[in-house]
Amino acid sequence: MSSSNTAFRPVDVSIGPDGAMYLADWYNPVIGHYQASYADPNRDKSHGRIWRITATGYQTIKQLKLAEMSPSQLLEQLRSSERWTRYQAKRLLFDAPTKDVLAAADAWLSGLESSEERLLVELIGVYEAHESPRPELLAKLLGAKDGRVRAYGARVAGMWADRLPSGLRGLKQSVMDEHPRVRLETVVAASYVPDAKAIEIVAAAVDQPLDPFLTYAIRQSARALQPQWETLLESDQLEFGSQRQRNYLADLRGSAPTKASPGEAVYEKSCLACHQPEGKGLPGIYPPLIDNPSIAGDKDRLSKIVLHGLTGPLEVNGVSFGAQRGAVPMPALAGLTDEEIARVLSCIRTKYGNIESPVTVEEVTIMRKATADRSAPWSTLELSD
Ligand code: HEC
Repeated sequence: MSSSNTAFRPVDVSIGPDGAMYLADWYNPVIGHYQASYADPNRDKSHGRIWRITATGYQTIKQLKLAEMSPSQLLEQLRSSERWTRYQAKRLLFDAPTKDVLAAADAWLSGLESSEERLLVELIGVYEAHESPRPELLAKLLGAKDGRVRAYGARVAGMWADRLPSGLRGLKQSVMDEHPRVRLETVVAASYVPDAKAIEIVAAAVDQPLDPFLTYAIRQSARALQPQWETLLESDQLEFGSQRQRNYLADLRGSAPTKASPGEAVYEKSCLACHQPEGKGLPGIYPPLIDNPSIAGDKDRLSKIVLHGLTGPLEVNGVSFGAQRGAVPMPALAGLTDEEIARVLSCIRTKYGNIESPVTVEEVTIMRKATADRSAPWSTLELSD
């Protein structure tokens, strides 16, 4: 969707109950928060538009009066092909008194064909909302034909594991599932189970076919559960299907996760989005901080840039970067503390500039005071010596 009007700012889109598309248009010539101050007089705080878009030649949908329906009538709405209808019906079912909803849901469940697998997913959500586990229904999901339904079942099996007599049995079964999505949901679900034995399920996934998503999930889940299994592994109280599973955990235990240094943490939070991982920059747009002589150069210049921002264009090793090529200009980041600025500058100087001299907190504090009355970003010309 596009418009030649410079004030056209689509900021949100939703499908309405009538099936039409509703588009919120902020209707404002000012776009972001970097290019213009929050106090910019062009920021219009009182206008905005909502567009209603319908398909020519199609009838809009007439919704039934959901708010007047009983729980059993609302359950019938879960059969609707309209997502909006199902969503609102569930919302009302979640809010209705638990006793009435459960009575209606149990009756509805007993009449449900097992082949109606999508409805099983809709229905179990109602029981979840009312915190009322139903082992028979869960078993139906875990035994469904559609892998996506079994995957959802695995998620619920994890959530209910502490309240079902079968405990972790559902997850033990689904971690061997032939569908990778089911195994993925199982590994993630196990990480939320408050039982030291949950790690056996995560480890079992190691012997199944792997893909990058599973490999990542297994590692993250094992790390999350580590406080619970560490001592049990040491005292050999866990049961594994193979030596490989045991070795996987033993290796994980031996390798400490790498933690970002305080400077790297500030970089990730405040600089990475533009200057990119490892300070590589974006060709012609965001300047690299690596192999850039000015990073190893004058420290005061670096503090000034972070405190007040910089407007390009800027040349690095003969290549031009910055605003006129579509970049968001270097913003003023004075909201960072002097300590954070010192840390991030020291980090880029030592990591990317390959020099040992860090920037101290005092140096940043002095620069902040010396340039206190500066309100506009620096130009490259002002900072060149
Ligand atoms: C919104 C994007 C953006 C963010 C966020 C950002 N920068 Fe920049 N930075 C730029 C752009 C663009 C330039 C080039 C000047 C210009 O065109 O505005 C630049 C230039 C610089 C320069 C000058 C490089 C030189 O060769 O002289 C330094 C130093 C710098 N940034 C450091 C940082 C640090 C440190 C952070 C985080 C604390 C940061 N930047 C966050 C966009 C950004």
